Amino acid sequence: MAISSKILKKIAKTYGTPTYIYNLDTIIDRYTYFQNAFPWPKLAICYAMKANYNFDILRCLHALGSYIDAVSPGDLYMALKVGFNTSKIIYTANNMKDAEVDEVMKTGVLMNIGSLSRLEKYAHKYPGTDICLRFNPDVVDGEHEKIKTGGDLTKFGILLEDVDQVVDIIRRHRLKVVGLHEHTGSGLVKSDSILNAMKNIMSIANQSNFPDLMFLDFGGGFKISYAPNEAPIDYIVMGKQIISLFSDFCRDYGRDLELRFEPGKFLTAHAGELLVEVNTIKKNRNRLICGTDSGFPQLIRPMFYEAYHQIDNISNPDDKLLKYDICGNICETGDLFAKDRHISQIKEGDLLSIRDAGAYCYSMGGVYNLRPMPAEVVVQNNEIRLSRERLTPLELINLVVAESNYMMLPN
Ligand SMILES: Cc1ncc(COP(=O)(O)O)c(C=O)c1O
Repeated sequence: MAISSKILKKIAKTYGTPTYIYNLDTIIDRYTYFQNAFPWPKLAICYAMKANYNFDILRCLHALGSYIDAVSPGDLYMALKVGFNTSKIIYTANNMKDAEVDEVMKTGVLMNIGSLSRLEKYAHKYPGTDICLRFNPDVVDGEHEKIKTGGDLTKFGILLEDVDQVVDIIRRHRLKVVGLHEHTGSGLVKSDSILNAMKNIMSIANQSNFPDLMFLDFGGGFKISYAPNEAPIDYIVMGKQIISLFSDFCRDYGRDLELRFEPGKFLTAHAGELLVEVNTIKKNRNRLICGTDSGFPQLIRPMFYEAYHQIDNISNPDDKLLKYDICGNICETGDLFAKDRHISQIKEGDLLSIRDAGAYCYSMGGVYNLRPMPAEVVVQNNEIRLSRERLTPLELINLVVAESNYMMLPN
């Protein structure tokens, strides 16, 4: 559900730029679609909040009944603040220190452990407790090298062939394995990856290894279309295959388990956009370079993953298409949102919308060059609400200085 240009212009006028805008109606639609695509009575949608931890988005998903996939103490405290019950949170951090494990265990959320070494240490300290185990599905997929998480080249999960060692540890320490987990990658490109990953996990998820299972969690990674020529995936069709496979598994296992997924991008990417203003047009011989008031620390996916985000000229949408490099305001040559992109002719002062920016954009942001992160605005039923203010540069500096134990600067 696209937000109209009229509303975008109004937001820019009221709150300035750069500003992230999230359409909560789109998130509700995506969540409902996902629920319908996987019609299993015990379905748990565990939103991967690393995709976007905006408070209003989390509140919206909480109201819909979502669970949470948290990956750091910060994620966890945020989810608790929003009101998620501990029973609806799974904690899937990697490379945790002992102190982190202890901190998380105090909250009572379920720990998901993804290495033999951590499992052994956990078992000594917390014998007899409930846990979830993250296995590496041994399926390699994802829309970029940096977001493939399966296979033995990545740091994630326990290898399937180590299952006997796992079983030995859990028996020695009377651990109750209530869930098995895998996550193959983000933006799974091959249609059979999820099914193959499921089959691999199911091959070890039997009564003799794990008699106490309550759920299997098959992670996230549901690909969405970013570029106009990318056909959307029909998850209703995929859902039927998944439910059939899972239902056969449950019959063999001996009882119906909860089916869990952890979509991030799928739920929030299409709901967001970053509104920026053009301040400089430069003609470098045959290149048109368009400079904006944001930059890669505020939306890093193009630079980090060579990701495509559609960019539209909101102020002048129907003019002749010209080829631009769309840049930010950061002192780095790679500070580009798009290269050689055909966009309706741009003038200085125009507003551009960088689309599909609701996942892994704000949440991966930082303040490199000490430029404050954009404001965040939510839209629901065409009503606009400021979700988070943009700090002024001086406010940002005061935070940085306060963190450094220096005196506050005068305002
Ligand atoms: C363990 C885990 N679950 C879920 C996700 C969400 O992936 P996506 O946003 O592609 O659905 C991620 C993303 O990295 C992840 O690492």
